[in-house]
Amino acid sequence: MSLVLGLETSCDETAAAVVRDGRHVLSNVIASQVALHRRYGGVVPELASRRHLEAFLPVVDQALREADVAPRGLDAVAVTTGPGLVGALVVGLAGASSLALAWGTRLMAVNHLEAHAYAVFLEPGPDRGGPDGRGLRPPEPPMVVLIVSGGHTSLAELSGHVRFRPLGETRDDAAGEAFDKVARHLGLGYPGGPVIDRLADAGDPGAVALPRAYLQPGSLDFSFSGLKTAVIYHVRQAEAAGRTVNLPDLAASFQAAVVDVLVEKSFRALEVTGHHRLAVVGGVAANRGLRRALEARAEREGVELLVPPPELCTDNAAMVAGLGHFLLAAGWAGTEPVRVNPSLGLGGRERRRGRRGR
Ligand SMILES: Nc1ncnc2c1ncn2[C@@H]1O[C@H](COP(=O)(O)OP(=O)(O)OP(=O)(O)O)[C@@H](O)[C@H]1O
Ligand SMILES: [Mg+2]
Repeated sequence: MSLVLGLETSCDETAAAVVRDGRHVLSNVIASQVALHRRYGGVVPELASRRHLEAFLPVVDQALREADVAPRGLDAVAVTTGPGLVGALVVGLAGASSLALAWGTRLMAVNHLEAHAYAVFLEPGPDRGGPDGRGLRPPEPPMVVLIVSGGHTSLAELSGHVRFRPLGETRDDAAGEAFDKVARHLGLGYPGGPVIDRLADAGDPGAVALPRAYLQPGSLDFSFSGLKTAVIYHVRQAEAAGRTVNLPDLAASFQAAVVDVLVEKSFRALEVTGHHRLAVVGGVAANRGLRRALEARAEREGVELLVPPPELCTDNAAMVAGLGHFLLAAGWAGTEPVRVNPSLGLGGRERRRGRRGR
């Protein structure tokens, strides 16, 4: 049994959450900065750090109050130390270490990407009794994990708790980044994912022929920059010919191209690893077109599909606290120094490329 306070400040959400046993979310507080960054069309790192500084303590207070937990009742404070924006991470770590020191509590470093995967083990709401509060058996590894977020698109094998093996990642833009850049180009605002998702409802996914980059046979890597460029060319050509662009059709066609590749590669990864369980996490996992396509394919192929509710797909601290529990359960020794690492990859490796350029 454990009670972990999770803290998350890697990008533009200041978040704190209390989670029991890595599963039961007692509180999950998120102060989003979306409105602050919207006018710039993306996250401005310096503004993000300053806003984290203002929001940090009130968000922590609220998380403890809502969970009805006193600091001395905590087993650990788990904080995201990477990947992310360096200034934003430093604010979170400075706050977390001060609190842990003042409370005499252990401080744990958590990898943000791995934390996204741990959203699938969370049960929204308090413990309602039963093995997982819904009378269902909680999911367990082994599984394949697709992490699709604003800064990352990665496939990994989770062979046992906290044991990640990277299988593939994007060679250029992340899927969420492609959604955001395409939306910005179309003048749809920021963040682009939810807007394109809604717009796509009214469009025909077959209306505009767009490329799908499967790369060389057997590759589990991704590439989305060519797709983004194809959308931009489509718009330019239409403008040059004096045609108006049908935005719902273009949104639906773009979304379908992203979804096709994500689904195909995820099921390839299942084939390669021999697993029958697929977790899909990160902000883009909130996409309804992706969720529908995954559900249909999983049903056809007898795969168990784990997709968190939308509010646990985008950045939150419950996933950080959840991973903190499973690190403790795996015998976390706490001997490593806790430092920020903006380019941390899965399984503790350095990533091949920097964070998205906005
Ligand atoms: N419904 C949706 N459809 C598609 N994309 C979405 C949807 N909702 C959110 N997104 C995208 O998810 C991204 C944000 O997700 P998330 O908060 O996980 O990313 P991040 O934390 O900024 O990046 P990372 O986790 O890689 O550091 C944005 O790019 C946003 O456009
Ligand atoms: Mg994230």
